[in-house]
Amino acid sequence: MANIVIVGTQWGDEGKGKIVDLLAEHVDLVVRFQGGNNAGHTMVVGGEQFICHLIPSGILQGKTCVIGNGVVVDPQVLLEEIDALGHRGIAVTPDKLKICEKAHLIMPYHKQIDLARERKKGEGKIGTTGRGIGPAYEDKATRRGIRFVDMLDQEIFREKVTTLLDEKNFYLKNYLAAETLDPEEIINQYQAYAQRLAPHVTNISIFINQAIQSGHQVMFEGAQGTHLDIDHGTYPYVTSSNTLAGNACCGAGVGPKAITEVMGIVKAYTTRVGLGPFPSELFDATGDRIQQKGAEFGSTTGRKRRCGWLDTVILRNAVRLNGLTCLAITKLDVLTGLESLNICTGYAYRGQILQDFPASLKVLAECQPVYETLPGWSEDIAPIKKAGDLPPNVKSYLNRIEELTATPIYIISVSPERDATIVVKNPFR
Ligand code: IMP
Repeated sequence: MANIVIVGTQWGDEGKGKIVDLLAEHVDLVVRFQGGNNAGHTMVVGGEQFICHLIPSGILQGKTCVIGNGVVVDPQVLLEEIDALGHRGIAVTPDKLKICEKAHLIMPYHKQIDLARERKKGEGKIGTTGRGIGPAYEDKATRRGIRFVDMLDQEIFREKVTTLLDEKNFYLKNYLAAETLDPEEIINQYQAYAQRLAPHVTNISIFINQAIQSGHQVMFEGAQGTHLDIDHGTYPYVTSSNTLAGNACCGAGVGPKAITEVMGIVKAYTTRVGLGPFPSELFDATGDRIQQKGAEFGSTTGRKRRCGWLDTVILRNAVRLNGLTCLAITKLDVLTGLESLNICTGYAYRGQILQDFPASLKVLAECQPVYETLPGWSEDIAPIKKAGDLPPNVKSYLNRIEELTATPIYIISVSPERDATIVVKNPFR
């Protein structure tokens, strides 16, 4: 029996959705444990593209999907997603989607504050997705959040919204010069959401633990990536939750002993959306080529992603922070056709070579990537089904990643389709 956490090793957008969708076949539950609709998981099945922001990627495989207590949920977005999947023939019924009663809600003022703050910060902004994620987690930490269980109780919900809006409207109007909000409008809107979502709401800690005890396999699906973690990422250019594998336990109400394997998803190169340090970023034609060939646009905001060479300093950081037991490499086909490939192995900083990822943004800003150069390949790798059939230069690239990270590669994705994947080892077998 295996219960696996899947996390991004870089700055998000590593292609976790495809791997979760692929492995979902072998599990009974797929659980989201942090983040919110700042995430965007793209999957391609039968030539059709699906993007989920909140509903775990296992939904396409007909698996039971769970939104954990650690997730912040915009109920409007969740309902839109349920409806959109329904229109495409995927019924998201209460037995297919469970939402934790303790999950916090993203409220209209969270979105308003997120956007207005970024506007006010101007040049100094974080480049958030504008979905209200930070302000919602902020209210959770200051004990002013509203949870699903509160939304289901009309009296409590009314009292909380009215009290909170007093302060939020003052802040919106007087500090952020943004529009204020009407409590009655929010109460009515959220009562309609509550009615529709109530059948999905439950204690997911009990649900997941019972499933594990009866022998079911669980996949915990991380959102964003290791270097967007609020503690261990490139703070303050991070998201507002812990994105690391350890948080699967807190964000879903399971103990650490329940986890048997931790898979890190590695894009064959590096991308970042939003602002913040990125030592191996490319500012030349190669960067543009990767951006275009990899269709590197944010699936949530549509912003162009910054692109660069694979950075094994950050990968080693991810291996340690998450306790990764295996890797999945994605978008390897995007590198096809490049004459040579660079892998960043360390950072040059004031005459020294740093092997570990520095915490100071000032130090990071001065770091120059140290590269090792490997030959590229021109063969079309998309149709290849076995690792042994990959061209020699592809094998060398992958072997070097395994050596530099001291972690085995279990899965290699060679094109967006679900079946364009080489499974070296299935973690569920
Ligand atoms: P927030 O999560 O919307 O507060 O945004 C904070 C930072 O995290 C910004 O740089 C975002 O671009 C980035 N971010 C948030 N979610 C994702 C994601 O799913 N993929 C990549 N970057 C993300």
